[in-house]
Parts: sequence; structure tokens; C-alpha cells
Amino acid sequence: RAWPPPQPQLQSLCKHKAEQRGILSAHRGSHQLKKNGPKALKVLQAERRAEAERSVLISCLPKTDQNKFLKYISKHGNVNKCFFYESFGTYAVVEFSDKDGVLSLLDSATIPSISHESVVPLRSRLLSLRNINTVDTDKQTTPQCQPQRTVPINELIQQLSSCNSLEQQIMSLTEAHSLTEENTRLRFLVCSLLNDIAAAYFPESSIRPFGSSVNGFGKLGCDLDMFLDLDAIGPRSGMYVEYQMKRTNSERAVTQSVLSVIAECLEQFGPGCVGVQKILNARCPLVRFAHQPSGFQCDLTANNRVAMRSTELLYLFGELDPRVRALVFTVRCWARANGVTSSIPGAWITNFSLTLMVVFFLQRRSPPILPTLDRLKELAGPSERCIIDGNDCTFTSDFRKIQLEINTESLDQLLRDFFEFYSTFLFNRMSINIRKGKEEHKPELGPLHIQNPFETSLNVSKNVNISQLDRFVSLCQESAWMLQSGATLTTLLLPSQISAVRGRKKRKVEPASERIKGLLESLRTKNNVREFCCHCN
Ligand code: GTP
Ligand code: MG
Repeated sequence: RAWPPPQPQLQSLCKHKAEQRGILSAHRGSHQLKKNGPKALKVLQAERRAEAERSVLISCLPKTDQNKFLKYISKHGNVNKCFFYESFGTYAVVEFSDKDGVLSLLDSATIPSISHESVVPLRSRLLSLRNINTVDTDKQTTPQCQPQRTVPINELIQQLSSCNSLEQQIMSLTEAHSLTEENTRLRFLVCSLLNDIAAAYFPESSIRPFGSSVNGFGKLGCDLDMFLDLDAIGPRSGMYVEYQMKRTNSERAVTQSVLSVIAECLEQFGPGCVGVQKILNARCPLVRFAHQPSGFQCDLTANNRVAMRSTELLYLFGELDPRVRALVFTVRCWARANGVTSSIPGAWITNFSLTLMVVFFLQRRSPPILPTLDRLKELAGPSERCIIDGNDCTFTSDFRKIQLEINTESLDQLLRDFFEFYSTFLFNRMSINIRKGKEEHKPELGPLHIQNPFETSLNVSKNVNISQLDRFVSLCQESAWMLQSGATLTTLLLPSQISAVRGRKKRKVEPASERIKGLLESLRTKNNVREFCCHCN
């Protein structure tokens, strides 16, 4: 099928409304459903990076007069975009139409002198504005803060209970969880602010977001994964500069020492960076910290180009068909609510693994909703060839080349079948392989095997133990059964309800219709919702 692909079932979902609300777009931008398909992630990232470089982050007092603030800022240059949000105080993100606005604002700023304390005089685009806000008149317009966190699950469940169908619930959940335009801008701005610090040592480096901040599957409040790209640093003539002559015995050691230096910098001088931890002995060395002004939990890696490539791949899958994002958001939310995933590292299934499971399931539909990675590789032109550390990471990013057969399955059907598919999947023998789009015999022991799409000898779910896999399978069984019996999404997001069903199903004391009626009635009780949901985020 040609771009844009026909999506008949979406018409029943009120496609126009979905587009308006931005559900169809990973970034709620205007790039969607253009004649040539969505923009490639690289292009989108370059645009976002340019916006971020023309932007500043300003801490303000909560009662700052919005109009006065804008008037003051506009003295320094044309303002393209301005919004406020709250995170340990009130902040404004201001994007100028060019970098001169930023320079003019910085030139007018002074380093504060604080009695009894000394400050490190670091010039940064994180500023603080205190003196234009004090007049308390009727005309004062206090800032409208943009939410940067997702609604708590109990509120989400209330919201979903008013939807008329499972399909509507899925769309509503997707909308509630998706990153907003403002949150995406803030993520790029934080990368850009941190880049200013890294540039003190490595002037041509760039810090770029990857993972769920940009792959289209990010939930408001998700961590900010960043990648320090040092590849731009390289000789352009026969002349070599001294700093490149320092040698270490491996690329890993270089990554570790670069990250170690950046971590020290962030700890000592990084405005708003707290709790800096060096995790340099991990398979992928990283620096973890909290960026307080944005409220983001940050992971900074370097030399991690394969992860950047998987981000591009997931972005492509998410943009190929709107059902992909809707299903991933729903499965991730269900998994979190039922304790299948966790924010604590351990033997749990990760969000990345779950996303690959959804992709695989959609490749197995008839006709397939998503193409295999091998097919995307065949479609790539010579300029798209990409080899990273000996791994072939080639695939096309050109949406116009990707033709798929029409599949009109509804989201209800897909969610039900997702649970059924994994209820009966032969995990003990087979591996999930999105490159081939079909299950293969497991190359190694271990409960769950999901082949790493680019480093094909690796298993992305190696951490998962048998009891976590068993839990996942039995929750899939219960959820499939509940959906078949007419339950809606709200029931599946209440862990207590699933275990209640499990208990009742075993005892077989009531006919199914009675059990479901009971469940639905208990759902209507607000207290019930609160009691069981407060531990989920
Ligand atoms: P959330 O942060 O949970 O919202 O999702 P995420 O996709 O950002 O996951 P995470 O922060 O754990 O990882 C960031 C990115 O690193 C992922 O999107 C993948 O591209 C990559 N990644 C994560 N885990 C693995 C893994 O086990 N193997 C490989 N090869 N890449 C991984
Ligand atoms: Mg992440």
C-alpha cells in the first residue's frame, strides 16, 4: 500500500479527532501523514536540536506575571515559543528565533553574590529571573503551567471508565501517556544544556536523546536517555591534534574515561545536576543523575550507536501504523500496573523487551501489520548501509519505500489476541526474532529469549527469570480470558481484579457472566480504585 497507508479501522476511532489530539504523532508535530510520510528521526532530531540551541531555561517565581515576563524577554530577541511548567519551582522554556536572543539575554545576566556562600561562576543557559514579578494587580496573568507528568493511574482509570468501548479506552490511555510537544522540547533543551558542559572538553561533541524520549513510545515522566556522540571529532586534514594522541588500550576504556570526566564536571559545575553516579563497569558504561530543574532522571552513555539505531527502528515501527503505539502504550501500562515491569532493575521484563514483543506480535498478524527487519534491510539503498562495530544495522528510513498489505483489525481484537498469543507461546523452546518476523529455536538456555535485533548473538531479556516469565504468561492468560468475557481495560489495570478472577476461576463457583458483573460493579466503587492503584505510577 502507498503512503499514507489506508487505516479503515481508525475511521471508526474518529481518526480526525485522533490526529487533532496528536495521537497519531509521536511528537504531536505537523510532520504526520505528509505526502512523503513522516520525517526520518534524524531529520526530526536535527530540527529539535536547532530549536533547543536557541532556547533558555528560566527559573521564575510562581506568581510571575506572564505578560510582563514575555515583554521583558522579548527585549532580547524575537520569541518563537514560551511555556511554563513546575518542577521544584516554576520554570519557563523560551525559544528565540535565533541565537542572538540567547546571547543578548546572557550578556544582560549577572552572577549572583550570595552572602556566606561562594558560587562557581559558570555561564549557562539555565537562568533565574526574580525582579519583574512583584506587582499584584487584577490584570496579573500568572503562568499556565504545562503538565510534565502523567496522570496517576487511579485518575487514569476513572477517566477510562467514562469511555464507551475498549478501543476508545486504548486511544484515551495513549493520549494521556504520550509525551507532549512541551515535554519533548524540554528533553532536547536539557540535552543541549548538558552539551554546553561537555563541549568545554570536547567542543565538537553532541549530546543527543535516544530511547523512549524520541522513539515515540515515551510516557510522560520517563527517564531521559542520552548519548554523547564524539564521532564528530576527527581530523579534517593531515594534521593531528595533541589530545587525540592520548592512547588507552580499548575503546571501552576511552568511553569510561570520557564519561568519568563528564561526571566530575556535572557533579562540580553542572547547574541543577544532583546525585551524580558513575556506573562505568556496566556492559554499557553510563553516568546517572537527576536534572532538578526539569525533573528528569538522566542516563548519559557514550559510544552507544547501536542503541541509537534501535531507537530509529522503533520510531519507524511506531510511525508506520497508529495501532502500534496504541498497543505498546496499553501493554506497557498493563505491565506496570500488574508489576510485570518495575522501575527497580532486576529479573523483570523491561519496557524495551515488551515493545519488541508487541512488534513481533504485529509482524505475525495475517496480513502483517509491521514488516520484518530483514525486509526493511532489503529496501535500504546504498546510502542507508550502516555497520556499527561489525554489526549490520542497515534498514530503510524512507517511509515511501515501505509497502504493506491492508490489515483492518481493530485494537480490541489486537489486544485480546496479544494476550492469547503470549499465553500459548512456546517460551521454553522458541526465541522471539523481529529480524525474521518468526519464532526460531532458542540458541541458549534461559527462560525468555528475545534476539537483540542488531547484535544478534545477544538476548535483550537475559535478565528475566522463570518466575517473572511465569507471572507474565499467567497474567496474559487471565487478561485474555477477562477480555473474552467482556471486561474492559479498567479491569485489567487493577491488579487485585486479575488476582480475584484467578481465585474465582479456580473455584468455578459462579457463571462467567455473574463474575464479570461483580467485577464491573466493584470497579464503580471509587475507593476500590484508590486502594489498589496507589502503588502504580
Ligand atoms: P523507558 O525508559 O522504560 O520508557 O523505555 P526505554 O525504551 O527508554 O528503555 P531504557 O531506558 O531501558 O533503554 C533506552 C534504550 O536503550 C532503549 O530504547 C533501547 O534502544 C536500548 N536498550 C535498552 N535495553 C536494552 C537491551 O537490553 N539491549 C539492547 N540492545 N538495547 C537496549
Ligand atoms: Mg528510557
